[in-house]
Amino acid sequence: MSEKRIAIIGAGMIGAAHAFGYRTYGPRISGFSARLDTVCDANAELAVNLANKWGVSRIANDWRAVVSDPEIDIISVCLPNFLHTEVTQAALKAGKHVLCEKPLALSAGDARATRDLARGALGKSGTVFNYRRIPAIADIRARVKNGELGDLVQIIIFYQCDYAADPLLPHSWRYEFDRAGPGALLDLGTHAVDLARFMMGDVEQVSGAVSTISIHERFLPAEATTGHGHVTLSDEKAKVDNDDVMSALLRFKNGAQGVITTSRVAVGMGNRIQVEVYGTKGTARFTNEFPSHYDLALFESGGASSFRRMINRPSSPYVGALAAVPHDLAPIGYAEVFGFMIYEFLTAIAQDKNFENGSIEDGYRASEILEAIQKASVINAPVKVGGED
Ligand SMILES: NC(=O)c1ccc[n+]([C@@H]2O[C@H](COP(=O)([O-])OP(=O)(O)OC[C@H]3O[C@@H](n4cnc5c(N)ncnc54)[C@H](O)[C@@H]3O)[C@@H](O)[C@H]2O)c1
Repeated sequence: MSEKRIAIIGAGMIGAAHAFGYRTYGPRISGFSARLDTVCDANAELAVNLANKWGVSRIANDWRAVVSDPEIDIISVCLPNFLHTEVTQAALKAGKHVLCEKPLALSAGDARATRDLARGALGKSGTVFNYRRIPAIADIRARVKNGELGDLVQIIIFYQCDYAADPLLPHSWRYEFDRAGPGALLDLGTHAVDLARFMMGDVEQVSGAVSTISIHERFLPAEATTGHGHVTLSDEKAKVDNDDVMSALLRFKNGAQGVITTSRVAVGMGNRIQVEVYGTKGTARFTNEFPSHYDLALFESGGASSFRRMINRPSSPYVGALAAVPHDLAPIGYAEVFGFMIYEFLTAIAQDKNFENGSIEDGYRASEILEAIQKASVINAPVKVGGED
């Protein structure tokens, strides 16, 4: 059997999830042997740490060398947001299969250029929209698509986190507009916007948006940072110039409306996503605080509509086919959901099919909406979304 070699570029918080996904689900691919070959990070210590955890043999610190390495077939781009466009485009041009972390780019223009390149590229490509594979989310989406909820009326998505609630968390690329883009919006809102599109279809207009910065400056770190971790702080502070909180009101092309709110400073919320989908015939609601079920109410006349608990079972999306323990109500975690995505991406490569469930096109469409939200928050007025092919 042929072998395909994989490189993870960026050994920070999310590089670890990619490593888990390739190591756990790579062996389940038929058609080629998937080998996690290289971990690349500008910080050698981080690359070595991640490689050691997962038994990866090669370390690199120059992403350009990895992208041009003929021995590498598949690349995960797990770098800070401002590097996504350059590295993803270089990897596509080099003929690699590329899975780029969200957001696909800092701007819709850059995302569009990457999408254009991906259309003509030899390799398969995708944007990391892992939350689509939460079994409950995938099941709600299936019900939306088969019309069980009727005509779509409204979606509400809260993505509330507290990773930045501590003012003593160090300053990093995440808190700079130039390197991260809008803060909570691109970090969390990218997922929220993608889930909104996943359920409801395309957005026509952002009718309004509000942005808040609640912690205006942070101490610079005295050592390397990854993810949302604490490190020793220096005495010097730097400005935070992107949003801590962003909320937006959406109008979809099908006439439905949506509310999304994203925060990185919502004390006590951890990493909480809540999705509520309302149609003329029913409502589905989910929160990742209880990942093993969602609630479904189907309309009954006479005021009898009430919620039923829909628990994960082996027949639920992804559970029977891919969960390690496909048992009724066996909880499915963050990393496992990530692995389902890696499995789908590797399967697309093995079957020579486009990766549709979180494509580069999806990454671009999300970018258009995100850019419109950002603009609406600045001009304090409605903004039409995209409009280009
Ligand atoms: N899909 C998700 O749910 C999810 C969750 C968290 C983060 N992310 C995304 O993943 C990306 C990375 O986030 P993170 O939290 O892992 O960040 P991080 O800061 O923890 O890790 C980024 C890594 O990139 C390395 N790096 C920076 N510049 C580099 C360069 N030029 N060459 C090689 N390595 C370099 C850093 O040393 C660091 O180890 C972001 O775009 C973020 O939006 C996605």
